[in-house]
Amino acid sequence: MTRRRFLAIGATAVGTVAVGGGLVTAAVHAPEAPMESYTMGDGEMKALVVYGTKSGCTEGIAKRIAETLAAAGATVDVRPAAEAGSPDGYDVVIVGSGVRVGTWHEAARTWVEANAGALKAMPVALFTCGLTTAAAPEKVAEVRAYTDPLLAATGIEPVDVAVFSGWNEPKRFSFVERTILKVMKAPVGDFRDFDAIAAWTDEVAKKLAAA
Ligand SMILES: Cc1cc2nc3c(=O)[nH]c(=O)nc-3n(C[C@H](O)[C@H](O)[C@H](O)COP(=O)(O)O)c2cc1C
Repeated sequence: MTRRRFLAIGATAVGTVAVGGGLVTAAVHAPEAPMESYTMGDGEMKALVVYGTKSGCTEGIAKRIAETLAAAGATVDVRPAAEAGSPDGYDVVIVGSGVRVGTWHEAARTWVEANAGALKAMPVALFTCGLTTAAAPEKVAEVRAYTDPLLAATGIEPVDVAVFSGWNEPKRFSFVERTILKVMKAPVGDFRDFDAIAAWTDEVAKKLAAA
C-alpha cells in the first residue's frame, strides 16, 4: 500500500463521515487501547523497549520482544512512547511503532526526535508494524523505508529496522479507519508472527550487544 493511495482513500472516508453527520459520531472513535509500562527479567544487560500504538497491536509485538530479551538474560523496561523517559542508563534500545499512511505514530516519532542525541550514541534497533506486508510480503522494503525520513532527520543509525505484519481487527479501529481498510480491501485478521518476532529479537540482540 503506498502512502499516496492511503491518503487518497482516507480523504474519501472522512468525507463520508461528514455527510453522515451526527448519526455516525459515536462510531467514529476507536476503543482506547491499553498502554502499559512494565519491567521483565532481572539480567545484567539493561534494555529499553519503546512502542507507539493506537489499536494495541504494536504493544503485543513490544511485549514479545521484551519476553525474548528477558529470556536471553536482560532486564527489560517496556514503555509506551508517550510515557518513555530518557534512554540514558540503558545498554540497548528497541523502538517501534505502528503506522498510519506510511508514517509512525506521532508519540513514537516525537520520542525518537527528543532523544536523538542519546540514541545516536548507543545501540538501537527499530521495528515498524503495518498491514502492507500481510497481503504483499514482497513490499517489505517499501514499509522499511517509512522510517527513512526520521532517520535522516535525526542521524540515528540503527543496527536493523524490522518490518512486522500487524492486524486488521475491525473492532479495534475507528469508523474512519475501518472504512479506509475496507475500501483498500485489506485482509481481516491478526497477521503478527510471534515466532518471527522472537527470532528477529534473538538475532538483533546479538548485533546490539556487539555494537
Ligand atoms: C488509516 C490507516 C492507515 C494505515 N496505513 C498503513 C500504511 O500506510 N502502511 C501499512 O503497512 N499499514 C498501514 N495501516 C495498517 C496498520 O499499521 C496496522 O493495522 C497495524 O497493525 C496497526 O497497529 P497499531 O494500532 O499498533 O499502530 C493503516 C491502518 C489504518 C487504519
